[in-house]
Amino acid sequence: MRSLMTSLERHEEAHRGYYAGGMISTGPTTELGSGRVNTVHKATFANGGSEYAPGHAPGTHVERDKSWVFKASGETEQGAGSHIPLEQLGGVRLEHADLTERNVLVSKVADSLGTSVIPETRKAIAEGSVGSAMEFAPGQSPLYEAKKHFDSDVSAELDMMSPEEIMPGAKRDSKGWYQDMPKLRAHDYEGATSASGRPVVSRTQRDLLDLQAVDYVTNAGADRHQGNLYYDAKTGGVQGIDNDYAFGTMVNHPENHAKMQGLPPMLHASTASRITAMDSTAFSKTVESLPAEERDAAVQRLSVLKQHVATLRETDGIRGGLMPKGGAASHDLGGSVKERAKRFEARAEFNAATYKRLTNSSAPPSYLRGLHQATHDPATRGDEGYSRKK
Ligand SMILES: Nc1ncnc2c1ncn2[C@@H]1O[C@H](COP(=O)(O)OP(=O)(O)O)[C@@H](O)[C@H]1O
Ligand SMILES: [Mg+2]
Repeated sequence: MRSLMTSLERHEEAHRGYYAGGMISTGPTTELGSGRVNTVHKATFANGGSEYAPGHAPGTHVERDKSWVFKASGETEQGAGSHIPLEQLGGVRLEHADLTERNVLVSKVADSLGTSVIPETRKAIAEGSVGSAMEFAPGQSPLYEAKKHFDSDVSAELDMMSPEEIMPGAKRDSKGWYQDMPKLRAHDYEGATSASGRPVVSRTQRDLLDLQAVDYVTNAGADRHQGNLYYDAKTGGVQGIDNDYAFGTMVNHPENHAKMQGLPPMLHASTASRITAMDSTAFSKTVESLPAEERDAAVQRLSVLKQHVATLRETDGIRGGLMPKGGAASHDLGGSVKERAKRFEARAEFNAATYKRLTNSSAPPSYLRGLHQATHDPATRGDEGYSRKK
């Protein structure tokens, strides 16, 4: 039988050991698009992937015909500046945990903290290449590229120049010469509603704060520019993609970093309790494939986040969930539903008031504040909004 295997199958066989728990694609992949460094492909992993679905014995099949985005494990050297976020993370040993492994670990940590802010990410093999498969994030990225045309004089001059003289990035269409400028989609996050008219701002706040917590623990915030965020205008939900640059030995986020925003200034009650309950030994196991120094740093960041959650509890920084009635000290969750109802009441959710508190100009740094401000700033706000189709 062995001789009948295609070279592709042999390649896949060879990678199974290393990619234990990974998925193998079942069909051709199609090019989806590219970011600053990588070109990603849409891939199907039904059947082939199902064999490796978590919690199922090898050989048993469960359909997992979701749409996945496949990113081949790449040369990190590609593209100018691709190393900058990596350098900022302190000691990073890619020979011990490559970018694909880091991408997968960030999704595991997000999941272990009970959040939905990182699409499921798994090791995968597609068309003979190893890499990561990430579930499609719904919606669109707030960041897009808009054409900025040069005025007709400059355009006419550019027409006269030889290709070598023209500045890099200048392109021409029927209207003349232009450059692509990064812009943020025009959107009212605060007033956004679902198709049925329900406000979705509560979900946006929760998700951006959850993401900030996950990014704090994993250091994935090192490359969390707004093109690596996806916003679903239907639900207000947010997810972070492209988590290659993560972990490292750095424990505290630098102040005023362009992308890393430090600790989340508020949190949803359910994320807060998952963080509090997260045992450092169990957490260390989740990230066990990291080199020891990076694993220890991640455990330290978790402990900083735990301390922070304790502070949030004392400073009105928790929203949603239940709280003991009338300041009662008991956190005892025992008893019947009826008995519990006597002792607990629902805490207020994220709403217009928390949105204001989190986005005003003296609010602490957060992804929400950054997104809100850049969306309102005429210098960065574009004309395009979220498309209704997606
Ligand atoms: N999970 C995903 N869901 C939807 N689109 C994605 C996903 N992952 C990647 N993409 C698209 O592919 C582009 C490149 O992927 P990304 O992982 O950001 O690579 P790069 O390292 O090159 O920035 C993204 O900007 C986005 O448009
Ligand atoms: Mg990217």
